[in-house]
Amino acid sequence: MSLYSKLDQTKIPEHVAVIMDGNGRWAKSKGMPRVYGHREGVKRVREITEVCAKIGVKYLTLYAFSTENWSRPAYEVNALMSLLVSTIDKELKTLMKNNVRLETIGDIEKLPEKSYKSLLKGKDLTKNNDRMALVLALNYSGRWDILNALKKIKNNADIEIIDSEIFSNSLSTASYPDPDLLIRTSGEIRLSNYLLWELAYSELYFTDVKWPDFKEENFYEALLDFQNRDRRFGNVKE
Ligand code: IPE
Ligand code: IPE
Ligand code: MG
Repeated sequence: MSLYSKLDQTKIPEHVAVIMDGNGRWAKSKGMPRVYGHREGVKRVREITEVCAKIGVKYLTLYAFSTENWSRPAYEVNALMSLLVSTIDKELKTLMKNNVRLETIGDIEKLPEKSYKSLLKGKDLTKNNDRMALVLALNYSGRWDILNALKKIKNNADIEIIDSEIFSNSLSTASYPDPDLLIRTSGEIRLSNYLLWELAYSELYFTDVKWPDFKEENFYEALLDFQNRDRRFGNVKE
């Protein structure tokens, strides 16, 4: 029986953020090149996106390429960038069918032109879809975003007092609520510069399963774990 039936429909997280990790090690364990793992990982992006749309998650934010990932060998970076283009081209129909809006956070103008253009096209075509936002973090890092927000605030003469709301509104994630749940696959227990401001009160879920193996049921497992957490936000329960 699917774990789906065990979910509490009244406690579906509004925003789920994911660090999709372990593609390379997954491929290596099969004697294949790392890129094979990235290709398999794309299938999970599709699966988890569809599941989220189905169960009523409103925002799914996926860490797809960090500002630090540029330091990888050129062939891997190139492969990831072309995979991005082919995936968007291929998945646009499904996004439309599922009424999902494609959005991005991160400095996408610095991506190769083809990837950049394909993202713009995908974002534009899906911009009125309102069932769920699929947010891809690309050339993104939490510190990059925090510095950007500070620059924006500094250059805005109208801002006199900086508070938490002004700061949040200056981040690239301004239009999203903070994630309720963060999932990281592959057994690494760190944030790797992801959503540093936004994860302040998120529930964190780490699993040893590598991203290419992270399927629908694994996602429900994470959700069930989340639904059993007691979120106190610093307060006390009577
Ligand atoms: C995650 O898998 C995908 C990206 C970072 C783009 P990795 O490529 O980091 O795979 P591992 O962690 O080396 O196994
Ligand atoms: C984080 O994974 C970035 C993405 C999933 C895109 P990494 O594999 O780059 O992170 P580290 O190097 O293990 O911290
Ligand atoms: Mg990794």
